[in-house]
Amino acid sequence: MTDTAKLILEGKTYDLPIVVGTENEKAIDITRLRQDTGFVTMDSGLANTGSCKSGVTFIDGEKGILRFRGYPIEELAAKSTFVETAYLVVYGELPKATQLKKFSNLLNASSLIHEDMTHFFFGFPRDAHPMGILSTMVASLSTFYPAPEDLTEDMENQLVANLISQVRTISAMSYKKSIGEPVVYPSIKLKYVENFLNMMFSSPVKDYVQDPDIVHAVETFLILHADHEQNCSTSTVRMVGSSLANIYSVVSSGVCALWGRRHGGANQEVITMLEHIRDSGAKPAEFVERAKNRAERLMGFGHRVYKAYDPRAKILKEICHKLLAKPGMTDPCFDIAMELEAIAMKDPYFLERNLYPNVDFYSGLILKAAAIPYDMFTVLFAIGRTPGWLAQWREMTHSEDFRLARPRQIYTGPNERHYLDMKDRK
Ligand code: SDX
Repeated sequence: MTDTAKLILEGKTYDLPIVVGTENEKAIDITRLRQDTGFVTMDSGLANTGSCKSGVTFIDGEKGILRFRGYPIEELAAKSTFVETAYLVVYGELPKATQLKKFSNLLNASSLIHEDMTHFFFGFPRDAHPMGILSTMVASLSTFYPAPEDLTEDMENQLVANLISQVRTISAMSYKKSIGEPVVYPSIKLKYVENFLNMMFSSPVKDYVQDPDIVHAVETFLILHADHEQNCSTSTVRMVGSSLANIYSVVSSGVCALWGRRHGGANQEVITMLEHIRDSGAKPAEFVERAKNRAERLMGFGHRVYKAYDPRAKILKEICHKLLAKPGMTDPCFDIAMELEAIAMKDPYFLERNLYPNVDFYSGLILKAAAIPYDMFTVLFAIGRTPGWLAQWREMTHSEDFRLARPRQIYTGPNERHYLDMKDRK
């Protein structure tokens, strides 16, 4: 196979290098295109554009394959923990026992935010969306813990631990503030997920009894969300990081991008959709028809990369079957979701467009069962995705071709014209 692609433009032939990845993905390297030809490329939604080389996550969208650092997501979901997966995603290898213990202890030691920051919560409206609070508070961390320009390895590791740990603390505190309860501080005695659930649901007058099935479900949710290559929020993180902005601002930008309902905001929209169908008495089949006619969007369906069943959705659906079979946990919305899936998976509209359930279709049912408020569903996504954002930022800042990201455009505005005095304007 040739290692170049030939481009014929205006009678001239150009050889463009071909890049081949470790999973045989191929790219045409256009680094010199504008310099050599004067042309740029256009790619709406960047669906055909590789922004970087990365060794963090591999997705085969046609086959529904997802691996973090080469490990299949199914194995990590079944055998790993979120802290171990976070270490793997960020540092590239499964930690040895001593490394895991050291990382876990560092996360615990880094779980407090500056006490003065707790007063910020009083400044937000009671009904402020927690994603707005999270993005603000994460960016504000830079004012209390300024990140120096040149980071030593230890400084970088501390920043990584701060963010993975404090995103969780800020999220739980924002919930407590929203319900008028005193914040619950992180406990050195609890593991990552139990610590989060305790900060969310325990109070001075009510102990929170951890349900191992809920802990396992939330743990798996976070593992599944840990990274997903160059998705919208991760690409935002890389873009903002490329300007050498501090890491807190970088992660805050990822939170902002994730909030949109085409991206991480979809998990909250799915539950709203399922409960609307439940309460309106509309038949799932009627809703699917409305989605086909563009009157509705089947939230949690479709994906820019997966043209097969999202492997994360399969795992989350399995968890729903187990969790929602527990006494008192049944949820008619799960039956509605499964009926929507069954109908869509037989309908040419969805099959022809390769529209399958994505990570958000079943995830909200698990968070709902864990009593997580709906407006915090995307916050949980952000907690899970923080290791991935940090891994991608770290990979980019350590790479030898680390440059400012600055795309070009094709101008379609007015040609040159000259200033008109007010009296001459028609
Ligand atoms: C995440 O990128 C990632 O990796 C993201 C993510 C991650 O882990 O980071 O996986 C997390 O964001 C998952 C996606 C969550 N979003 C949703 O569930 C929102 C609903 N889905 C759609 O809005 C849509 O599928 C997108 C945004 C996810 C993908 O959109 P694309 O790739 O731009 O595709 P498109 O909008 O151009 O749709 C192609 C066709 C269109 O029909 P035609 O114009 O060809 O007739 O499919 C239709 C769309 O109308 N379509 C849908 C649909 N999604 C696409 N029709 C009905 N319901 C849907 N959900």
